[in-house]
Amino acid sequence: MAVLQSHLPYERGALEPHISRNTISYHYDEHHSGYIRKLNDLICNTDYGNLSLEQVIVKARANKNIAILNQAAQAWNHGFLWQCMSPTGGGDPGGKLRELITDQYRSVSAFKRQFRDAALAVFGSGWVWLVLDNDKIRIMMTSNADTPMGTNLVPLLTLDVWEHAYYLDYQNLRQNYVEAFLDYLVNWEFAANNLVGQPTIRAA
Ligand code: FE2
Repeated sequence: MAVLQSHLPYERGALEPHISRNTISYHYDEHHSGYIRKLNDLICNTDYGNLSLEQVIVKARANKNIAILNQAAQAWNHGFLWQCMSPTGGGDPGGKLRELITDQYRSVSAFKRQFRDAALAVFGSGWVWLVLDNDKIRIMMTSNADTPMGTNLVPLLTLDVWEHAYYLDYQNLRQNYVEAFLDYLVNWEFAANNLVGQPTIRAA
């Protein structure tokens, strides 16, 4: 049984003008599908072959199988990423998530500044995350394919800061990309829903 590529929850041009159809097309149809293809090549006819994507990550991490872990983590991270953005996103979070953010960062705007600064501080390729760590939230950064999925942290939100995520639209101006995400695309409803359980990635 092969791991399927997760569903893109909107049309490829739906995030314009902030992220172009061209970027989403390359990102989803080339990069994301490439991780899925390479993962399936690696796990075909192995004892990973009948596991869910989440189970593959946990097993590969435990077994220190870095080749499988890298492809599986990137496959999962991208499935999660698409849901962290919405054509009707942006604004501020509400409810319990807002309370957690203001408890930790004093205000939503202060949180956004710290999230942006963390995204800018990722050296080279990686991800910036909002995670639930026991009963508190925190911002964290991961390098390359690394993911909090399958650890004791619950991913609530992420942004891909690999250059392939933004270079066609923003060239080297990562800050403008991160600010467009926070101002116009971030899907707070999805992040809030992740407070009540580990997110699931829907297959296409
Ligand atoms: Fe990516």
